[in-house]
Amino acid sequence: MSKHLLSIRQTSVSDLNELLKAAAEFKKAVRAGKSPASDPKRVIGLLFFENSTRTRVSFEQAANYLGYRVSNFAAGSSSLSKGETLKDTILTLSNERLDAVVMRHKASGAPYLATNFFHGPVINAGDGQHEHPTQALGDALTILENKKSIKGLKVAIVGDVLHSRVARSNAWLLSKMGAEVRLCGPSTLMPKHMGMLPGEVFNELLPAIQDADVIMCLRLQRERMDDGVISSTNEYRRMYQINRETLLVAKSDCMVMHPGPINRGIELDDYAADGIHSVIQEQVENGIFVRMAALSWVFKTPPPSGAAKSGERPKSKGKATAGAKS
Ligand code: NCD
Repeated sequence: MSKHLLSIRQTSVSDLNELLKAAAEFKKAVRAGKSPASDPKRVIGLLFFENSTRTRVSFEQAANYLGYRVSNFAAGSSSLSKGETLKDTILTLSNERLDAVVMRHKASGAPYLATNFFHGPVINAGDGQHEHPTQALGDALTILENKKSIKGLKVAIVGDVLHSRVARSNAWLLSKMGAEVRLCGPSTLMPKHMGMLPGEVFNELLPAIQDADVIMCLRLQRERMDDGVISSTNEYRRMYQINRETLLVAKSDCMVMHPGPINRGIELDDYAADGIHSVIQEQVENGIFVRMAALSWVFKTPPPSGAAKSGERPKSKGKATAGAKS
């Protein structure tokens, strides 16, 4: 049975720690100019059905550092544009001698469907509004490099929580690792059933970031928004922007994070994006090392048990499984 990385929610704390430890070791090796290449014969399919800059490039870099080759699949120029279903695309790719696939798709749950038709490991690189596990791992590595531990930290996740897979993966990871998670945004940009997500809900910014150790800003995801969910960008900026002034209520050494791409001047001002609090560029670089960890982790043999392992759902051949939404 293949090992997958589909969500943080279904990944155990010990697996998260193993992934983070491996990522830190890969970082050390790469920075020291050592080659951590393991099995040069592996070929990784990068299936990006949605746009991406940093996630795609960092998976490519991760694969290169590991000595793997990548095969890129561009949705626009593939047979999908001729009406092929996702199931048939995955079945086809399964016979193209790929060893693993990394998949981004606009539908929550699409990578779960892929596990039914692909013979090897599947890594979720972002599925709809569901999860983005490797982003949360990169964010955790960045926090761990700046703070002693995640346990006990006050972390405010601010913005368009409703449409954000980054918010979901981070809320799960941070709460599993003992942080106090605060989720903040206008009520129209918060999920209907907040009880499904770990964290305290705030509709006002200042109480949410009061004494925060970490603030994670989220992009306003207009491509997933219905009209009218925010009255105006200006109002959003006035009420929720992380900037020189609002940062004063957070801890003086508060980290400002953003998964990118940023809407500069909306979610955060130049001071927050580029100043002493910002770790946004560190997040980008760490994305490479957690993806190296993820790519090598999925090829490790899972323990011999019939039970579903972390990150994996029981398989029902030929049947689509929906992604959990919160
Ligand atoms: C995020 C994504 O695609 O979910 N970006 C990323 O992977 N770096 C966040 C976003 O698009 O806002």
